[in-house]
Amino acid sequence: MERKMSSVSRKMKMDGLDTNIVGSEVRHFEMVSSTNLVAKELAKKGAEDGVVVVADVQTEGRGRKERKWSSPEGGLWFSVILHPKIPPQKGAILTMAASIGMVEGIDKITGLKPKIKWPNDVLIKEKKICGILTEMDAKTDRINFAVVGIGINVNNKLEADLRERGTTLLKEMGTKIPMVPLFKAILESFDKAYGKVVDNDYDFIIKKWSSFSSTIGRKVEVSNGNGIIKGIATGIDEDGCLIVKDGETHRVTSGDVNYL
Ligand code: BTN
Repeated sequence: MERKMSSVSRKMKMDGLDTNIVGSEVRHFEMVSSTNLVAKELAKKGAEDGVVVVADVQTEGRGRKERKWSSPEGGLWFSVILHPKIPPQKGAILTMAASIGMVEGIDKITGLKPKIKWPNDVLIKEKKICGILTEMDAKTDRINFAVVGIGINVNNKLEADLRERGTTLLKEMGTKIPMVPLFKAILESFDKAYGKVVDNDYDFIIKKWSSFSSTIGRKVEVSNGNGIIKGIATGIDEDGCLIVKDGETHRVTSGDVNYL
């Protein structure tokens, strides 16, 4: 069946969704280029805190570092518009709150115990199940809006080149996962974690994130624009930067981690 890119969304309140902010309104599209792009346009036009854009298919799904994000039917591809009153340097905390929500929501529906690989990849048995791309529109002292884009491999097929490092909930459970209960559980867990960000309880986020981390305590290799650092990941600091020790102490703001 051929489907057209939709410019019309179905606006809905999700029945029984128990959240304060996240999911205040949900806009569902059959097919978009990228939910992050649509969400940014809506945010610029004044969309309120917590509006969610979700699509069945993305034709130009994007990942971190300008990578392509494969987004066929059967996955959960969505973006949340947020207006947190926090300084831009705390932006990483938002993504951490989202990854906490993903771990808790997925665990609630499947009983699987996902882990977080720094910065915010959600893994099951060391294979990536979920990625998060946060984009911000900010001034020096405040965030105008943030769009937190989340992609979860649920019942979709994985492209051949992703099968070694990635997985789906269908594969892990051996059965199809009901999408609406999963979506609700995830939005509800994210909402609780976002509430802590709104209350400036960054310590809660850092402790909770660390309890789900598969990175802390591991021997790692981190590559970023500045080269490669090899050492032990000992923790994260109050801005979500990874602390790696190799004799010296390094504070890593961005990069890709490999476990050694
Ligand atoms: C990553 O590289 O790990 C981040 C992937 C983020 C993918 C999601 S899918 C929904 C939203 N729209 C996009 O284009 N990207 C994010």
